[in-house]
Amino acid sequence: MAGAGAGNGGTCCRCLCGFLVSIGVAVLIYWATYQPHRIRAAVDFAELSNLTVVERNDGGGGGVVYYRLSINVTLHNPSGRVGVYYDAIDARLLLAGDGASLGPANATSPEVFHQPRMSTAVVTIEFDRSGGGGVGVAGDVAAELDKEIKGGGGGDGVVGFELALDARVRYKLGFVPIRARPKVRCPMRIPVKAGRHRRSGVGGVLSSGNRCTVKY
Ligand SMILES: *[C@@H]1O[C@H](CO)[C@@H](O)[C@H](O)[C@H]1NC(C)=O
Ligand SMILES: *[C@@H]1O[C@H](CO)[C@@H](O)[C@H](O)[C@H]1NC(C)=O
Ligand SMILES: *[C@@H]1O[C@H](CO)[C@@H](O)[C@H](O)[C@H]1NC(C)=O
Repeated sequence: MAGAGAGNGGTCCRCLCGFLVSIGVAVLIYWATYQPHRIRAAVDFAELSNLTVVERNDGGGGGVVYYRLSINVTLHNPSGRVGVYYDAIDARLLLAGDGASLGPANATSPEVFHQPRMSTAVVTIEFDRSGGGGVGVAGDVAAELDKEIKGGGGGDGVVGFELALDARVRYKLGFVPIRARPKVRCPMRIPVKAGRHRRSGVGGVLSSGNRCTVKY
């Protein structure tokens, strides 16, 4: 009696193991066949205008930065097998030197989209802090930025920024969605020149493809 019971249990266990192994193999085959590749990103155009730094000398020691920046980022899906669904893109601008925040983007377009396999999409990101209260920064950050804008004094300033994109994406492997959160970081060094009116700040254009780093 007892022996028959144990035999029954063994068969059951073998069944379960076989089932688990075949699920594992199926997932592996899926992964190998559809293996999602990392997206690639580059800045192919950036236009900065109205960049102004106001240093406050009233004891508080802080500063205010006003600017407007429009950036075209090219996102490339190199996978020949899977499309990428972008569910959200969170964009922020930082100063390259000290990593100080210049705030979140005002608009990202498109915000949500599907990128077919082996394709490239352009996302336009707009920052507009040219009006209102601008962005408050620490006093040393304002001083450093002011120095970068002035450059050697002959109007040959270069300002280093970093565009930070935190995306939420889904890869659809058949009916299995795989979620990922790629972090895209794009360094940009934009040469700046004063506008026609002193009050309108400095601006500049970047028109070559700076590669971004992408981490998963
Ligand atoms: C930036 O991207 C938008 C949308 O694709 C496009 O209409 C615009 O021409 C691009 N600008 C530049 C300068 O490439
Ligand atoms: C851009 O967004 C900031 C806050 O994130 C806001 O203070 C500012 O007014 C916005 N600019 C425009 C033009 O809407
Ligand atoms: C931005 O700069 C342009 C010219 O560079 C100027 O005409 C405009 O008034 C400026 N806007 C602000 C809000 O400073």
